[in-house]
Amino acid sequence: MDKKDKYSELYKQIASVTEEETDPIANMANAVAMIHQAFGFWWTGFYIARGDQLVLGPFQGPPACTRIPFGKGVCGTAWMRKESIIVPDVEEFPGHIACSSLSRSEIVVPVIQNSEVTAVIDIDSKELDTFDDTDRIWLEKIGTLFAGKRA
Ligand code: SME
Repeated sequence: MDKKDKYSELYKQIASVTEEETDPIANMANAVAMIHQAFGFWWTGFYIARGDQLVLGPFQGPPACTRIPFGKGVCGTAWMRKESIIVPDVEEFPGHIACSSLSRSEIVVPVIQNSEVTAVIDIDSKELDTFDDTDRIWLEKIGTLFAGKRA
């Protein structure tokens, strides 16, 4: 199965699991578990926008930074720009926040509701250049399942 087909299946599974449950944290927890299991990423999680910070939400992988200020790191920058960011090499991204020294590439996708970022999906890989537009498009689509359900 190629990446696109894998994401297509994953999207259907996450949509199915989340439509039966109203609690956003429970839904985020299952979504990250499913994404993480499907692709074997190094770290997969949500950060939730609270005031002027992102706060660590449900995740799979090693322990991570709990708070990221608006505009800081890849996550805070994606929040500020209200757009997804693909980082092929984290050492090349000024201000990247290294929660794990083993992370080499990263993608961050904001969840947007009424032009407001309510959360971001953050995925880290131990390999360089893991993420491309296929990841971005499908993770943005998965993110829409969480818009309208503020945690
Ligand atoms: N690298 C992120 C911080 C979160 S960890 O990757 C889990 C950033 O620069 O925002």
